[in-house]
Amino acid sequence: ADPDPLQDFCIADPKSGITVNGFACKAARAAQSSDFFSSALRKGGSTDNPNGSNATRMDVTVFPGLNTLGVSMNRVDFEEGGINPPHVHPRASEVGYVAEGILYVGILSTENKLYSKILKAGESFVMPRGLLHFQYNMGPGKATQFVSFDSQKPGIAFAPQTLFGSKPEIPTEILAKAFRVDADIIEYIKSKFQDDC
Ligand code: GLV
Ligand code: MN
Repeated sequence: ADPDPLQDFCIADPKSGITVNGFACKAARAAQSSDFFSSALRKGGSTDNPNGSNATRMDVTVFPGLNTLGVSMNRVDFEEGGINPPHVHPRASEVGYVAEGILYVGILSTENKLYSKILKAGESFVMPRGLLHFQYNMGPGKATQFVSFDSQKPGIAFAPQTLFGSKPEIPTEILAKAFRVDADIIEYIKSKFQDDC
């Protein structure tokens, strides 16, 4: 979890030039009702992309009222067959709830063991901080999950994009050695991640 707050709240002042672990607070007397509410997760984003999924974030950068409080949420929408690719959150554990559809959810331990379950709407999962995890919409139909984090900005590193789509690139010879394949296979996979963030 993020550090404990030392005051009731600290509504982020994104315009402040001060750099802290989080954002500077705007003056407490300037806080308004609107600072404590957000409609960021009301709708999901477009799933028309190679993953067939879209993560809508509600971290401190979109909801300044979260600043210093050590909590945030995401909503992830999946088309049938869509995946939330294997990823880690360096700064948070995650607890999630399947609101619609059927998701195959997997978690990898540092012993390289896969823990998995097929979850139906209404069921929940937990991802311990830093462990690789993913979700797959097995169908039928669309799926939606809501997740929360014990960090105002958990961070996310997608394994495929990190390895094959970094800027600048990881040298192909290193990935070829790491994946135990020929360089042309690595080049081929890299070509699939050129425009990915
Ligand atoms: C799901 O695992 C998410 O991080 O949004
Ligand atoms: Mn996650």
